[in-house]
Amino acid sequence: MSNSGEAELLHTFKGIPFTSRSSPELLKSLDTFDAREDDVLLVSYPKSGTHWLAGVITKLYNTQVTITSPIEFGDISQLEELNKLSSKRIIPTHLDYNMLPPNFKSKKCKMLYISRNPKDTAVSMFHYYRDNPNLPTVDTWPAFFDLFLKGNVVCGSWFDHFLSWEEHEDEKNILFLFYEDMKKDLPRVVKEISLFLNLNVSDNDIQDICKKSSFSEMKNDTEKENSDPNHTVCALTSNRKLIFRKGAVGDWKNYFTPKQNIRFQEIFNEKMKLSKMADICSSL
Ligand code: A3P
Repeated sequence: MSNSGEAELLHTFKGIPFTSRSSPELLKSLDTFDAREDDVLLVSYPKSGTHWLAGVITKLYNTQVTITSPIEFGDISQLEELNKLSSKRIIPTHLDYNMLPPNFKSKKCKMLYISRNPKDTAVSMFHYYRDNPNLPTVDTWPAFFDLFLKGNVVCGSWFDHFLSWEEHEDEKNILFLFYEDMKKDLPRVVKEISLFLNLNVSDNDIQDICKKSSFSEMKNDTEKENSDPNHTVCALTSNRKLIFRKGAVGDWKNYFTPKQNIRFQEIFNEKMKLSKMADICSSL
């Protein structure tokens, strides 16, 4: 962070940094938020492919659904707005499992958790920090790398976030997805999502959805969507161009020095030693 005034852009709630766009009153009220049984949660650590997944999910429904802004964003009136929505709600969130409103858990709402190689996530987040005036300034990649490893970034530690959700991976109402799998075989993942959501979607429609969800198509749509107030998945910027940067797997190799890679890997191995994902992730 380059100057102390900017520290006001973030505040900490229950040990996790949030932007000033998430009011403490709203965060306190999450515990009593009333979920609906047919709510679908789209959960991610930032920069893991949230918008991509949101694009896919909305195209899968042929009934009216509303993709809301993240549940933790805004002031307390935001929760009242959510309560008023009459259509089915697809609710994005970057909350870790422990902070999720308990009602979503007791009502067994469907939740999709998308994850991405944390090295690519870190690089994507670095660019997002650099280009977004609503986040503290970071001057250099090495400075951001340190902040990321310490969890001193918005939404806290990638490791804590991932592990808090992974503990619940076997619950039937939670589907774990990986950005890299979507890159490798999008039709397969879209099929898996449609089955999880109990949606009857033909193979032709899946092909069509995949075409419309490609990086280039989604990036091209940004001009139109920039002037559409209904596009609210990322309430941290009204400029959707910031979201569709490169859309690649392995971009971290262009940023990590060999020394940074060793340091990252050591921390990864230590934090993820009990994780079922350790093998998959460490080979990325
Ligand atoms: P990069 O910064 O590496 O390009 P989120 O939506 O969670 O903020 O994640 C943003 C990341 O997802 C960005 O990564 C963005 O380019 C990538 N992304 C968005 N749409 C995509 C798509 N259709 N295909 C591949 N990657 C996509």
